[in-house]
Amino acid sequence: MQFYAVLLEVATLLATTANAADCFSDSGSQICLNSTDLLKYREWLCTYKTWANNMPFDWLGANGHIATFTPSNVPNEQSCWDSTLDIIDQCLGYRNGGAYSLDGWSMTIDFCVDTSKWGH
Ligand SMILES: *[C@@H]1O[C@H](CO)[C@@H](O)[C@H](O)[C@H]1NC(C)=O
Repeated sequence: MQFYAVLLEVATLLATTANAADCFSDSGSQICLNSTDLLKYREWLCTYKTWANNMPFDWLGANGHIATFTPSNVPNEQSCWDSTLDIIDQCLGYRNGGAYSLDGWSMTIDFCVDTSKWGH
């Protein structure tokens, strides 16, 4: 009984790990987009196949701050939906962004872009 419980836990952990976003190490930024905006831009990125352009997109939030979505070799639309939701669900409110990578492709979202560092 206990043995099975442990096995189940390991299986659950592995399943979770396979879908895990790697959250950035930095946290606590005060210049982040909130979930309303991030989900709106996620929809835009995935619906309009913007992810296929393979370049970073900066988006201005209603609060005047900026988030950057960076797709890299994303294989299909579903991967865009899944990876972006994983990053938002797992990292927003906890860290300043996150990345999801699998089999040679990746998606990165920086929720809290510091524009004062641009152009340096
Ligand atoms: C995000 O910010 C916008 C603009 O201030 C606001 O309308 C919206 O309700 C906020 N969403 C959440 C989840 O706080």
